[in-house]
Amino acid sequence: MSISTSTQYQYILVSQEGRVGTVQLNRPDALNALSPELMQELVEALEAFDADDAIGCMVLTGGEKVFAAGADIKKMASASAMDMLLVDQLARWDRIRKLHKPVVAAINGYALGGGCELAMMCDMIIAGETAKFGQPEIGIGVIPGAGGTQRLTRAVGKAKAMELILTGRQFSAQEALEMGLINKVVPAELTIEEAKNLAKAIAEKPAIAVRLGKEAILKAFDTTIEGGLDYERKLFYLLFASADQKEGMQAFMEKRPPVWTHS
Ligand code: CAA
Repeated sequence: MSISTSTQYQYILVSQEGRVGTVQLNRPDALNALSPELMQELVEALEAFDADDAIGCMVLTGGEKVFAAGADIKKMASASAMDMLLVDQLARWDRIRKLHKPVVAAINGYALGGGCELAMMCDMIIAGETAKFGQPEIGIGVIPGAGGTQRLTRAVGKAKAMELILTGRQFSAQEALEMGLINKVVPAELTIEEAKNLAKAIAEKPAIAVRLGKEAILKAFDTTIEGGLDYERKLFYLLFASADQKEGMQAFMEKRPPVWTHS
């Protein structure tokens, strides 16, 4: 395992194990509140892994007691609407949505407001049994601004999203699992290990097929079924230009394990 320490980053820790790259939010004194500076470091680190051929999948995690307590309320409390509009700091968060490689969120403790939205921007979520999710923005006079009204609604449906966003109540990992928001609940001490195991299983698969699989699944959220099926079929055909398609099918016929080159 290689770990690059805070010489490069102030608010996150970055490490790599095999083909899995991990980013840990590390601003404990503010409960990992997602300040513009932290978010800048986070998107830079994730984009660096995304561009690195040696990485196949990423894990995003926070602390033992807090994944992230949301956007930094202290930094935006006195902002005017024009400050918010012109600085448009949440636009930076969009860069996470554009990552090509899958990201597994490993959540322990609070994932509130922007913290819940950041988890939902990831492609899969593993949560410790003490994790607490929520969109509490209504309690500070706003609504979610980093995708909560859209992603929570798509994941759990209109009625539940209305209840959760309009009351701001927290919900448990178990409730999140039952609503279909997350993949799995595990004992808190196993959250990161479980997320890394999932990331490792994906990172060992042929990288171009993983990338196009992610792209096709995400397409389902912003297209008609007709358009989505068409898109999927084209990506399927495109994979026949990859060396791993030739290797995968040849290995199947020769009854041997495939040797992926991720090309
Ligand atoms: N922004 C800035 N600072 C925060 C913060 C946040 N979102 N959340 C916590 N902190 C700070 C607290 O102000 C406190 O700082 P001080 O020590 O300087 O007073 C420190 O972190 C510890 O917090 P608490 O004393 O409140 O800790 P707690 O254990 O009693 O409670 C908590 C934990 C339930 C997470 C509580 O801190 C909380 O409710 N935080 C705010 C959650 C929230 O409303 N998030 C939504 C933010 S808006 C948003 O995210 C918009 C969007 O859609 C992008």
